[in-house]
Amino acid sequence: MYEGLLAGKSALVFGVANKNSIAWAIARALDRAGARLAIAYQNERLEERVRKLVPELSQEPLLLQCDVAFDDQIEAAFRAVAESWDRLDVLVHSLAYAPRPAMEGAFVDTTREDFRVALDISAYSLVALARAARPLMKEGGSILTMTYYGSEKAVPNYNVMGVAKAALEACVRYLAADLGPQGIRVNAISAGPINTLAARGVRNLTDFIKTHAERSALKRSITQEDVAHAAVYLASDMSANVTGEVLFVDAGYHIMGV
Ligand SMILES: NC(=O)c1ccc[n+]([C@@H]2O[C@H](COP(=O)([O-])OP(=O)(O)OC[C@H]3O[C@@H](n4cnc5c(N)ncnc54)[C@H](O)[C@@H]3O)[C@@H](O)[C@H]2O)c1
Repeated sequence: MYEGLLAGKSALVFGVANKNSIAWAIARALDRAGARLAIAYQNERLEERVRKLVPELSQEPLLLQCDVAFDDQIEAAFRAVAESWDRLDVLVHSLAYAPRPAMEGAFVDTTREDFRVALDISAYSLVALARAARPLMKEGGSILTMTYYGSEKAVPNYNVMGVAKAALEACVRYLAADLGPQGIRVNAISAGPINTLAARGVRNLTDFIKTHAERSALKRSITQEDVAHAAVYLASDMSANVTGEVLFVDAGYHIMGV
């Protein structure tokens, strides 16, 4: 569909846990579009799963281990990229985490520590990764993150993750303003619910996906591939003058009044 669109570009993708990860669909789409890839996974436990996936790509990617809770791991990951590549064009941040108790029960019961962890991993990490990417994005670049409508509306059980996504979307705007003069664009994709490992942390996910589809303008649910197509657009020069945006890929759910 978009072969060659990203030829000559280098992309670093964070957030591949398994074949259902949105980050994996994005990695495959960037690969099809001709980008060379680096894939960062969170920890050793995920390494084997990620290694089993990579033969599906047309070129062997750089594989990096990086837990974004640790500055030294972020530094090491970007050092490894700098040692292998002369520049970076695309950074994909497709990761989030909130401790399980914070995504059950009432939001009012969120502890200080769970709030801190959710905001650190799910929002601050974008700032840390963007800062590390900046010196490598010598000819400008595109930074993408993944958000959800629970940033704007109170969605049952989404709780502190909704607050983290609101912070993430604000980070997108501030980063876009900071990095714009260097030709670096920063955008978010707001995806409708998709059955992934992270989403399974939200209670009653299957019912929720069904209701979402019924109430959406297009009357259908969202796939990882839908999100990946939008990611290729935002990564490419086709979106050259788009920055600081939240692009909804939700079958039109958020535009419905009732
Ligand atoms: N699935 C959905 O319905 C949906 C909808 C909208 C937005 N999103 C967002 O999409 C992104 C990707 O989630 P997904 O649905 O593909 O699920 P996923 O479980 O496949 O991906 C989440 C990723 O976050 C990574 N991660 C968590 N803590 C980390 C840390 N400390 N360091 C490094 N990586 C860490 C995990 O390893 C995993 O790869 C998340 O930001 C999520 O909030 C998902």
